[in-house]
Amino acid sequence: MKFSYSNPTKIHFGQGQISQISTAIPSTSKVLVIYGGGSIKNNGVYDQVAQALEGHQWQEFSGVEPNPTVETLDKAVSLVKAQGIDYIVAVGGGSVIDGSKYVAAAAHYEGDGWDILIGKHKVTSAVDLGAILTLPATGSESNQGAVITKKATQDKLSFLSPCVQPKFAVLDPDSMKTLPERQLINGVVDAWVHVCEQYLTLPVGAMVQDGYAETLLKNLKTLGEQFQQRDSDQWRANLMWSANQALNGLIGTGVPQDWATHMIGHELTAQWGVDHARSLAIIQPSLLRNQIEAKRGKLQQMGKNVFGLAESDDLAEQTIAHIEAFYQSLNVPTQLTEHGDDKQGAITIVLKQLESHGLVALGESQSITLIESKQILESAIQ
Ligand code: NZQ
Ligand code: ZN
Repeated sequence: MKFSYSNPTKIHFGQGQISQISTAIPSTSKVLVIYGGGSIKNNGVYDQVAQALEGHQWQEFSGVEPNPTVETLDKAVSLVKAQGIDYIVAVGGGSVIDGSKYVAAAAHYEGDGWDILIGKHKVTSAVDLGAILTLPATGSESNQGAVITKKATQDKLSFLSPCVQPKFAVLDPDSMKTLPERQLINGVVDAWVHVCEQYLTLPVGAMVQDGYAETLLKNLKTLGEQFQQRDSDQWRANLMWSANQALNGLIGTGVPQDWATHMIGHELTAQWGVDHARSLAIIQPSLLRNQIEAKRGKLQQMGKNVFGLAESDDLAEQTIAHIEAFYQSLNVPTQLTEHGDDKQGAITIVLKQLESHGLVALGESQSITLIESKQILESAIQ
């Protein structure tokens, strides 16, 4: 397939690199630092940011929640407009960075910012944005995507725009030291599924993309197996760089992409607050079994090249079992329990939301209609 590729985010990787922002951001800028619930005050990241911005005019906006809501973010949009902010620095995980992307785009739009999520407004400009990553998982720090929730209607929708791609991203593995175990595991799983969404489709003979995807999957598998070493500099640095590379656009160029697991998973998060990564571990094994014939070639390739399995008639089936076992080895459930005991009621809600969001032909071949989504949910929900 044809492609044009550029990743314009300048990465500053390594210990102590937060200091780079003092020169990465023009000194004449009016800066807004956006962060979440305050974890950055416990790991020295906030202090490093404040020190690096000493020569700048800056203020802050805090309280961006996990799975960021438009209700909270619109307050930051008003602030950016009222104060004439012309540089935003997002400090946190995917939620803070995604939320900041929304703020950056909505601040350059006169209408209701939610129009961006429903496709009514196409983003053509945004406030300049930089990111300081504290949770490796989403790749948001150097991509064009953002996922935003409207609490009032439990809609979780995404948008993509080159205008919101961060100008720079600081990846200092030391900032991960305060991450709870649960978030580290989420990072491994989310990055893993990002690679799968761009790799487990149909074979097109893209040797570079396939080879790099397999390297990333092997890295993530190793990091999961070495989870006991998570408190080492090497483990942290490898997860931070692997998760970044998993969704910075490179392995997805010129190849078919799936993303159905993400689209269905987002509905579980919107309804029951399931962590993003955990929603994926619930949907993906069931989805792969449902789509096994279409994906057999790539599942076989993954089985051989990632899990080291031998050629056999049921290699694709075995690969799915290995993926599921990988999640379970990290104590990540592969079935939904958060919905309570009304399984059919839960399936109906998710299908209704998928339909209302126009998500009725998902996957690399648009073969996951509401009929397949129902089948997938039947086995993904306990
Ligand atoms: O709010 P704070 O205080 O920052 O605490 C957060 C939050 O409670 C905490 N945390 C982050 N860094 C920490 C830390 N705690 C201690 N020490 C640190 N160093 O972790 C909690 C979860 O953070 P969150 O940002 O929500 O996690 P994640 O990075 O997994 O982001 C998830 C969001 O990203 C979206 C998801 O849908 C979800 O909304 N995604 C964005 C993508 C993109 N832009 O490309 C792609 C992904 O597939 C995903 O959909
Ligand atoms: Zn994800």
